[in-house]
Amino acid sequence: MPTLVKLHDLTFKPFISATEIEKRTIEIGKEISNKFAGEKPLFIAILNGAFVFAADLVRACNIPSEIAFIKLTSYHGLESSGTVKTIIGLDINIENRHIVIIEDIVDSGRTMHHFINDLKQKKPASISLATLLIKPGALQFPIKPEYIGFEIPTKFVIGYGLDYDGLGRNYADIYHLKEN
Ligand code: IMP
Ligand code: MG
Repeated sequence: MPTLVKLHDLTFKPFISATEIEKRTIEIGKEISNKFAGEKPLFIAILNGAFVFAADLVRACNIPSEIAFIKLTSYHGLESSGTVKTIIGLDINIENRHIVIIEDIVDSGRTMHHFINDLKQKKPASISLATLLIKPGALQFPIKPEYIGFEIPTKFVIGYGLDYDGLGRNYADIYHLKEN
């Protein structure tokens, strides 16, 4: 893997390798498969960031399931903004379905807090959240994911689907901001 990645004005250094991510994803896939055996869960992947994790996580699950995609935005540059907008919504009835949301990262928790509250109105059988990353030090909303890949410090990360102003999603490993 390249040692440093330069995106726009910032430099990032290696943080979590593709191998570590794969190992953890397979573990979570097994947990979800055991928990939802016989339930035909509906995965909801949050675009754009979760597209890579979602592709790997659903393939780590060996039970019949469906997947839907929605697009939310709350982030601009390095900062989460106060409003969550739905850019692409759900096109499927989720009443009585077991939902497993797939997210790349929970930062303040604002995005998931809004989305989970929206989902509850639609009367699913259950809602679980699988997030690859969480920054416990940045949480401002009461979000408790059932499945967490890695707890990380409050530092900006890119790669494996995560971007800095549009760039960096394509790297197989995760990088974090290099201080000075
Ligand atoms: P929250 O609403 O503050 O929890 O932010 C969640 C969303 O912000 C995620 O879905 C990501 O798209 C984005 N985000 C949060 N932290 C980072 C980061 O370190 N790198 C890239 N995107 C991030
Ligand atoms: Mg996201």
